[in-house]
Amino acid sequence: MNWRKLRTFLITVLVLALIPATRYYQIDVPLLRFLRGSHRVDPLSLHLAGEFVENNLGTEQDPDGSVTVRMVAQQYLFVPQCIVVPAGIPVHLRITSADAVHSLTLNGTDYAVKVLPGTISEAQLQFPHPGEYKMPCREFCGAGHYAMRSELKVVPRDQFPALRPGERGSCAAQ
Ligand code: CUA
Repeated sequence: MNWRKLRTFLITVLVLALIPATRYYQIDVPLLRFLRGSHRVDPLSLHLAGEFVENNLGTEQDPDGSVTVRMVAQQYLFVPQCIVVPAGIPVHLRITSADAVHSLTLNGTDYAVKVLPGTISEAQLQFPHPGEYKMPCREFCGAGHYAMRSELKVVPRDQFPALRPGERGSCAAQ
């Protein structure tokens, strides 16, 4: 094989190898779950047991003072519909999907989190100032996609209350 043929061959292999990379989010879920190991979760039993049962959703204060937010994306809403977090404190987001692929975004920020059924997506967020953000879904997920949104409320650090499980996902608790 001469160099020219070899070069053509290598370029062809490279291009073929890139095709699956562009289809990353369409790789079948069992394979993805296997590759992600501990991040897997069964989308069909989210509401029955484990980390994403209903009264575990929302904002929880961690022993080190940071907060963890747990959410479930489903056609066509993010649960809970309103999240309250303190300003100036690291926020660990953990979110999974009960059905399709969604994308949680925060208007006015660069944050965007792809949410897939079967896996837990994690993101580190931080908000320096109090404020309110709309959180629309930016991944087409079906007929109700354009109405799929939640809200995030950032409150001053000293006003962030110790939320009980039932209040963690409600702006009305403020
Ligand atoms: Cu969920 Cu679009």
